Parts: sequence; C-alpha cells; structure tokens
Amino acid sequence: MIRNAIVPVAGLGTRLLPATKSQPKEMLPVARKPIVQYVVEELVANGVGDILFVTGRNKASIENHFDSDPELVRALNNTNKTDLLQEVQFEELNANFFYTRQRQQRGLGDAILCGQNFAGEQPFVVALGDSILGLHGRSKTMGRMMQLFEERRASCVIAVEEVPLDQTQHYGIVQVAEQCEDYCRVGNLVEKPKPEDAPSNLAIAGRYVFSPLIFDLIRRVQPDRKGEIQLTDAIQLMCEEGKRVLAVKLPPGECRYDIGNFPSYFETFVEFALADPLYGEAFRETLKRLVRD
Ligand code: G1P
Repeated sequence: MIRNAIVPVAGLGTRLLPATKSQPKEMLPVARKPIVQYVVEELVANGVGDILFVTGRNKASIENHFDSDPELVRALNNTNKTDLLQEVQFEELNANFFYTRQRQQRGLGDAILCGQNFAGEQPFVVALGDSILGLHGRSKTMGRMMQLFEERRASCVIAVEEVPLDQTQHYGIVQVAEQCEDYCRVGNLVEKPKPEDAPSNLAIAGRYVFSPLIFDLIRRVQPDRKGEIQLTDAIQLMCEEGKRVLAVKLPPGECRYDIGNFPSYFETFVEFALADPLYGEAFRETLKRLVRD
C-alpha cells in the first residue's frame, strides 16, 4: 500500500503571468476549486494520504488553503451555510500535509530530491501540482499504476498520453520496448525532444510511482543546458541499469489537463465549468449566446 506522495509546486508559472505574479499557478481556480485541490483529491481517492508539497517563495496560499480557518468556520456556522462548510473542511479528507521548500529553481528532479527524507525507504507517488487527470480530477490511472507497480515489481511506473507529434518538445517522451495488455515496458526516455528526434508520441503525463531507488539516480544526473536536473534523465538511468520501468496510457475518455499556459487553462476552465452539476447547464446557455454574438 503506497501512502506517500510528493507534489512539486515550486515552479514560477511565468507562462501564466500576470495571473501568477503573487499567487501560485497551482492555486488558480478551475471552475470551483483551485487546481491543487483536484490533485489532492485524486491522491486521497487512491489511498495516498501523506502528501508533501515541495514549494518555493510565494506559495504560502497553498498551505493556507488546506489549513483550517476557525474564523471562516464560525462565519459559515453562524449563517447556517453548512453546505459550504463541507467544501472547506479538509480535515475530513483524512490527509496529512507536509511542506518543504526547494530553495533554488534547479528542475523537477531536484524538487523530488527535496522529498527524500519524507519518502524514506517506501515507494511513493509523484503528482505534478499543475496537472489534473480526468474531468474534475476523477481518474482511474493512478490506481492502475500502483497496482502494476506492486504486481510487476516495477521500479517506476509512469502515466503517459498520446500527443500530436509536433508537440513532443513540450514533454518527456518514452520509447516502448515491449507492449503488454494496457501498459508497456519503457526502453528509453528523452526530455522534450524535437519531433524529428522523438522516439514516439507518448508523453509523460505528470504522474509517477517510484521506488526510493530514484533518489540515488537523481543525484547522478548532470544538469541540462538550463542548469536543471531532469527527473526524466534519472528514469532513463533506471532503464540503463535494467530496472523495470513501465508506462500506463491514460484510458479512453480520460485526459490530462495541463494548466501550464493560457490556452489550455481557458479550455480546462470551460470544460470543468460546463460539467459543473450546479452551474453547468446555465453556463452552457451563456456560452452558446457568447459564441453566437
Ligand atoms: C514536466 C516533465 C515532463 C512531462 C511534463 C508533463 O515538464 O519534465 O517530462 O512530460 O512535466 O507532465 P514541465 O511541464 O514541468 O516542463
């Protein structure tokens, strides 16, 4: 049973300025919740309740969001807004939140290394704090990844999604060594290759399950041109050492919502708002009118 997750949220969010000038991109709302809340709910739904956020400067609002707020609770109680009260009482999630800081922007691999003492000798999940899997964060992928990790005694299981071939330079891309039922064994990985150098169009989709072996491999990775330690390079070392690295494709109907830039943020917001049980229908009418005019 995997209980621990590392959620890196230290990125500067420069592609979302000015919205992210003084607030973390992970706190941008998508319909009614901030992005990071969907990520936490996905983890908790999979029994992963000990969650370490690797933060940076300007990320305090993430900590505040999951903390209790007695004044707000009192105000909602006094006005009988019990339905809203339920929405903000994260104690009920049965999760423990931990926080540490990545002091310098040295890449995703370095951010994960900040969680080494937290993870200890146990396997753990990594969930990128700016990616939501599945509409409203309802995803089957992580459960399957954890199951495979244990059943196949893997060292790493990655979620992957198909992307258009001309987009490979935005993602870590995997090369399939052997195709099995609904997963594959990974032979090699390359971080953000040009389309002509990409070994496939299967992109790493922001969710990983790792054995603690990964920490030693991250330490061996050389910084890239930008001085960043790439997590993908550490997984490549894992492959080179003959360890079992598996990839699970997001099942049909499930996609990854990447909140890294404005076009995908707008699209995600609209899709989630349209599916909102309370406001979705009225919003659909508004949207139709706006598109018509
Ligand atoms: C990171 C990873 C990349 C992965 C992507 C989306 O890149 O380095 O391998 O495909 O997340 O999950 P970033 O978007 O942080 O540049």
